[in-house]
Amino acid sequence: LYKFYFLMWCPKHCFLLTRNVQASQRAIALIAEMIHTASLVHDDIIDDASSRRGKHTVNKIWGEKKAVLAGDLILSAASIALARIGNTTVISILTQVIEDLVRGEFLQLGSKENENERFAHYLEKTFKKTASLIANSCKAVSVLGCPDPAVHEIAYQYGKNVGIAFQLIGGVLDFTSCSEQMGKPTSADLKLGLATGPSYLHFPEMNAMIMRRFGSPGGVDRALQYVLQSDGVQQTTYLAQRYCHKAVNASYSFQRWCSQETN
Ligand code: FPP
Ligand code: MG
Repeated sequence: LYKFYFLMWCPKHCFLLTRNVQASQRAIALIAEMIHTASLVHDDIIDDASSRRGKHTVNKIWGEKKAVLAGDLILSAASIALARIGNTTVISILTQVIEDLVRGEFLQLGSKENENERFAHYLEKTFKKTASLIANSCKAVSVLGCPDPAVHEIAYQYGKNVGIAFQLIGGVLDFTSCSEQMGKPTSADLKLGLATGPSYLHFPEMNAMIMRRFGSPGGVDRALQYVLQSDGVQQTTYLAQRYCHKAVNASYSFQRWCSQETN
């Protein structure tokens, strides 16, 4: 993830260039990784997952109680590191991430009765569970390097769009990859009763199944077949590309800002 935070470059300020990165900016990358790791340790408890990145999960090895505490410990280490930076704006930006992560998990537990609201609900959940971390980490790094709010917004938009694209492709890979490639079981979302991009996009039969959280006998296999027969995977990939383009546009805005500054 840290690659995202240092991707932008400015000849005058150089505040996001890896070579010139400040210690406090590097700390943001560490803190973001710790918040991310804590959330995954907790997520694996909620999802009753036994493997991640090709390894056994903390809950599988040490049990749920120790996994809750391990996640809390990582989060407290992140909080201490954040407090050490001593910048109240940055503290409030990164604590927003923690709130978003938890609210995202709550959104995932619920679903929208109204079919037309369901995809927007999915995108909101996706922003909170995934994109907020990248968006706000990029923003925090920019705040530490530059006082201009326009740059903070560009950094935020860059991270937000990369984050949504990342999660949309995560949903695609759950349908199209094998567990060896992913380092975790695939079709996992359907088995957990979760609909992702490919299940929402095109195939009216899916609506009732989404509401039942794929819970009927043979529901997961049927939903998998529907999705693979539909163009849901292609549509989701296309949508992810659109978010990538928005991220690229944010980086162009940043370049424009840099050239204005140097002129
Ligand atoms: C992965 O989701 C999970 C997340 C990105 C966030 C989970 C957040 C919490 C459990 C809230 C608690 C937060 C903190 C900071 C302790 P996924 O199940 O869709 O993806 P996966 O396939 O990688 O498990
Ligand atoms: Mg999970």
